[in-house]
Amino acid sequence: MLMKQGKQWKSICKGLILGTLLTSCMILLYSYVTPAVRLNMQEVPVPYSCAYRPARARSLPASNSSHGGACTPKVDVMFMKTHKTASSTILNILFRFGEKHRLKFAFPESRNDFFYPSLFQRTQVKDYRPGMCFNIICNHMRFNEPEIRKLLPSDTVYFSILRHPADLFESSFHYFGSVVPLTWKISAEDKITEFLRDPWHYYDPEGFNSFYLKNLLFFDFGYDNNLNPDDPRVDESIQAMEKRFPLIMLLEHVDESLILLKEALCWEMEDVLYFKLNARKDPVVSRLTPELRSQATDWNMIDWKLYHHFNATFWRKVEAYGRERMARDVEELQRRNAEMAAVCIEGGQPVEAGRIQESAMQPWQPIGEKSILGYNLKKNIDKKHRKLCRKMLTPEIQYLTELGVNLWITKLWAHIREILNW
Ligand SMILES: *[C@@H]1O[C@H](CO)[C@@H](O)[C@H](O)[C@H]1NC(C)=O
Ligand SMILES: *[C@@H]1O[C@H](CO)[C@@H](O)[C@H](O)[C@H]1NC(C)=O
Repeated sequence: MLMKQGKQWKSICKGLILGTLLTSCMILLYSYVTPAVRLNMQEVPVPYSCAYRPARARSLPASNSSHGGACTPKVDVMFMKTHKTASSTILNILFRFGEKHRLKFAFPESRNDFFYPSLFQRTQVKDYRPGMCFNIICNHMRFNEPEIRKLLPSDTVYFSILRHPADLFESSFHYFGSVVPLTWKISAEDKITEFLRDPWHYYDPEGFNSFYLKNLLFFDFGYDNNLNPDDPRVDESIQAMEKRFPLIMLLEHVDESLILLKEALCWEMEDVLYFKLNARKDPVVSRLTPELRSQATDWNMIDWKLYHHFNATFWRKVEAYGRERMARDVEELQRRNAEMAAVCIEGGQPVEAGRIQESAMQPWQPIGEKSILGYNLKKNIDKKHRKLCRKMLTPEIQYLTELGVNLWITKLWAHIREILNW
């Protein structure tokens, strides 16, 4: 008992030290990066598109193409990366496509998100200057449409991904719980069950990082996650999202989602092949019971409304695409993913962190444990696949570094954690 309490204190102390350190770093950086650019920002129109244009349109068989025979791959893309929705997998797809076509990414400066949870500002983009042209933006941000519109060409395709709010809540609670101080006072062994038993007893809308525990999706899209679910602003926001995002994918149907994405962007099947990155080792958290699931859904009612709405639009899109055609294309995607796995992955399976041989393949871990799985690249991959295999397996942080983002804050944070063994 005493030992357990001691352990708890130790982890609270670590949390406080880390929190203070990180906050000071943030303030320092913020005062260093922002003011000069913020003042007198000129309004320069965004160029229509600065893209490298693929030499010729891809021609598709006219009979079963909704592109009317041919289309040009879209290169201006905004991916609203939501939390805990397998979005790292999508990022890998975008990184590969961007590299292949030499597109210009709007990356953050010094860390892997755009100063989340503050609202996105285009001045947060690495090397930003007014009038400059970018093609793809895809790192974590809190969505802020007017700023994005001033950054990306007007023909940019916006898309995002949602997940059932009960699963999202569970995952977020597990992954971010320790950086939300209001969870520290939950003394029960099974914190999430205790929290859901009486959320208002623990939850404080003003609490530091509290958005991780309530309507996180709605918050990520830039809205107020503490609105009453019946507030008319909720439905208005959902309508606004539908207008802005022609495609909202669903984690539960990621393959169908990727086929719709490929169609919307006129990309090739090879562009959307993927391995599941950043997957969690399963037994870490007990799955929620049906009652807890429904409590978690009620607690995240706005996210539920969001999910419910975009589930309906999603299946209408599948219907329009053609159910049979979708089934065929999903089968092809899965077959080709499996072929790539056989070619690229040692043992064909993801492994725990301790068994990953190359540090370049080591994924980022949540605080306090090593629950995210990674991969070992096969040794003797034939020349044709070698590069693609490596790219498909490279975790987000390493890939960002390769693409020229200097992640010193993210890395400093990793070192501090390593020293404290947290
Ligand atoms: C296109 O449709 C034809 C029949 O209309 C079918 O035989 C063919 O397999 C389809 N092609 C694709 C790529 O779906
Ligand atoms: C999503 O839509 C499908 C098709 O309309 C429906 O069968 C399913 O129950 C819906 N799921 C949710 C969670 O709303």
